[in-house]
Amino acid sequence: MRHRSPSRRSRHAPRALLVALLALLVGAAAARAQDENDVVKDPVCGMTIKKGDAAAMSPYQGQDYFFCMKDCQNDFLGEPAKYTGWVATSKKAHGYFVNLFSKPGKVTAGEYSRLFLELVPETGTTAKVLTVKGSMVLNFQLGDKPMKKKYDNVDMQPMKEPGFCGTRMAFLNDGYCDAKFTLQFDDGTEEQVPFRFDVLPNWDKAVGTEYGVPSKMKMAVQHHVVRKLGRFWTDVHDELGNATPDWDKALDFLGRVQAYQKYLPSFVPHKHTKETEEWRKLVDEFGASLAELRKAMEAKDAAASRTLHARIEAENCTRCHLKFRWDTHSDVTNLRDLRGKQTE
Ligand code: HEC
Repeated sequence: MRHRSPSRRSRHAPRALLVALLALLVGAAAARAQDENDVVKDPVCGMTIKKGDAAAMSPYQGQDYFFCMKDCQNDFLGEPAKYTGWVATSKKAHGYFVNLFSKPGKVTAGEYSRLFLELVPETGTTAKVLTVKGSMVLNFQLGDKPMKKKYDNVDMQPMKEPGFCGTRMAFLNDGYCDAKFTLQFDDGTEEQVPFRFDVLPNWDKAVGTEYGVPSKMKMAVQHHVVRKLGRFWTDVHDELGNATPDWDKALDFLGRVQAYQKYLPSFVPHKHTKETEEWRKLVDEFGASLAELRKAMEAKDAAASRTLHARIEAENCTRCHLKFRWDTHSDVTNLRDLRGKQTE
């Protein structure tokens, strides 16, 4: 279920209009001032465009966002947090929707991330939030040993935009983080809002320097990988389901599934650490099936592609899940993927 109320949208409308107007005025000049040939990504449709070619621009939270067309900008202005940050999850507290998100859209070990809390009152909510106090616990693995690192008194600074507060933090190890925010209201009540989000590993840098060990693939990463893999697999399915599939698009989605498949050998689900061989075998078979599907798709053979897609689901996905997934404890029921969808 998504906690987006109609009131939330309408509340954003006047602000969105204002920002849109401002964007129109400042947009053109600002784009010219910067390097027109700078390549940027439209945060809504994902298209790569040159700043100079952008149809529209909107500033948000201190950064400029460029759009390939006005429609994208309008979507953006309706729900900017959805497109700029990773909404870990949305909770309700005392008549408020509470969203946690981050910039640059994910939290990665060994780098500074900015974490924001957005407080959106429901219609009719009269209580005001006076203070926000935060604390976080990072859970990570050191070899086989589970470890915790506490960050007390996370300083959530109010921001210029009403309803936002934020902080800048760096986590040294990858894992998952339990964050807890205590909201104090002017009617004397207090409410705690818990969140959980992944801290992704840094593929390029060896992190975990604090503990003297390089980063390894961790459970949280495994969750992340399978979740993304599953989502792009659905995208392939949907594209193949069209009467005339957009093959470039479908192949792009499949490419992402294949990219995630490549990570699978790096970990074996816990409780199965002695069954590396079988895991690898299933991963390899899965990889081979994906390559076969790619061939059919490159040949633009819709019927064969659909059959293969269904066969892979029935054989590769299910066979591995029966053995390795169902008894794998999963902590991720409340996380949203990067697009902001609930993943349950
Ligand atoms: C080699 C083994 C393997 C193959 C092949 C595999 N998966 Fe999984 N999958 C897993 C494991 C293990 C988990 C549980 C991981 C966890 O909870 O951390 C999982 C979990 C998932 C999840 C749940 C993610 C969540 O939010 O908890 C989805 C969705 C998923 N797989 C989709 C797929 C699809 C679709 C395919 C085939 C195209 C597939 N998987 C192929 C091993 C596999």
